[in-house]
Amino acid sequence: MKLIIAIIQPHILEDVLKSLDEKEIYLRTVSNVLGCGRQKGRTEVYRGRKETGGMLKKVRLEIAVNDDFVRRTVSAIINSAKTGNIGDGKIFVVNLEECFRIRTGETGPMAIG
Ligand SMILES: Nc1ncnc2c1ncn2[C@@H]1O[C@H](COP(=O)(O)OP(=O)(O)OP(=O)(O)O)[C@@H](O)[C@H]1O
Ligand SMILES: [Mg+2]
Repeated sequence: MKLIIAIIQPHILEDVLKSLDEKEIYLRTVSNVLGCGRQKGRTEVYRGRKETGGMLKKVRLEIAVNDDFVRRTVSAIINSAKTGNIGDGKIFVVNLEECFRIRTGETGPMAIG
């Protein structure tokens, strides 16, 4: 099991969710976050410069998947989030130790999707 964490541009979120829907990847968590990449928030001009201390508004998308879904999830995100501009975002894939569905007590791959 893996936890896919994608930090993307807020204005691209709808496209990314649509792309995930098309691949039948429906389970997700979305948060509004602040962040900076290697330009330290300086050279991204897209609607950004009024954020605090050089931090730019970003969206954090988290999707826990079984191993055979990693590739298609990552491609769906990249295909919809890539513009070629700085600040397009980043994807982290993290080993996921365990997952519990609270309602049923299921664990592991059964509990994920
Ligand atoms: N190494 C990192 N650790 C934690 N968060 C990161 C890291 N790199 C990027 N982020 C997060 O992802 C967001 C988008 O990063 P961004 O796309 O600007 O990466 P970058 O490395 O600067 O690449 P680019 O040169 O394409 O802009 C950042 O604002 C930050 O929230
Ligand atoms: Mg950057």
